[in-house]
Amino acid sequence: MKVFITRKIPNRGPDLLKDKGWEVVVSPHDRVLTREELIEMGKGADAILSQLTDKIDGAIVDNWGKTVKIIANYAVGYDNFNVKEIAERNVLMTNTPEVLTETVAEHTFALMLAISHRIVEADKFSRAGKYGGWEPELLLGTDLSHKILGVVGLGRIGSRVAHHAVKGFDMRVIYYDVKRNSEFEEEFSAIFKENPDEVFKEADFISIHVPLLPATHHLVNAERLKMMKPSAYLINTSRGPIIDEIALRDALKNKVIKGAAIDVWENEPELTPGLSDLDNIIITPHIASATEETRQKMGEVAARNIIEALEGRMPPNLVKL
Ligand code: DGY
Repeated sequence: MKVFITRKIPNRGPDLLKDKGWEVVVSPHDRVLTREELIEMGKGADAILSQLTDKIDGAIVDNWGKTVKIIANYAVGYDNFNVKEIAERNVLMTNTPEVLTETVAEHTFALMLAISHRIVEADKFSRAGKYGGWEPELLLGTDLSHKILGVVGLGRIGSRVAHHAVKGFDMRVIYYDVKRNSEFEEEFSAIFKENPDEVFKEADFISIHVPLLPATHHLVNAERLKMMKPSAYLINTSRGPIIDEIALRDALKNKVIKGAAIDVWENEPELTPGLSDLDNIIITPHIASATEETRQKMGEVAARNIIEALEGRMPPNLVKL
């Protein structure tokens, strides 16, 4: 069997595949492959271990020929797949859920705390030698405790973030999701909102955890930003295009909202001009799942999905149409 890995990943996943005695080919380029490179390098492979930056559609699958049986994404999100076109070609698709939930929830909280306590601003201020001694009103921030967290998308990661908010910070949770979760509501005294607008209007902190779909593209737009309290913060660790980044920049510039922290950008790796000039935003480069432990586990999950598929069993993390 031959497995093509589209970019170098931590060793444990590839090692599991090599232990099978299979040929494991890793892209020699430590960058996103062009469409042509992806096609050329994938030819003759039985499985592709892809990155969230590899846009894969039916035409790519056709160009690979009929050998490819599974595309295992090294990510929980799979908006880089044209799921319909790939499924029509009877190629299996998998993702890496669960193993990154804790890490992304931690990063979400790191962002929430960092923006509300002005950690990045304070660090810059200190390094610049501006600290002249204790002051009563130096770099005043905002407490999280006892505030309202609005979770948009109460899946695995959203519910873990809500858990930390309730258990760690005595926050009250309101949420919007296409599916209501009464068990969760009971356990965490969370309140379901039928319309995301209500979450935007009422929350002090809003954390976005929906997948990128046509229905969630620009879910956070100028109108919804205007609904938010001027004292509220917006956090995004899901996918960049869920926020209209120009609208966010303008809202932050005009103090429509207090602050934002984003790990995902609308047009990665390009940032909307003007965004990085603002002090009321923290920007991390899509690293919410990037701990040593988690990136190893993601590779192991992707490799296991491939092993199951190539040995004729159903991989555990199938992406369905
Ligand atoms: C994912 O898995 O979808 C994250 O965005 C990266 O780990």
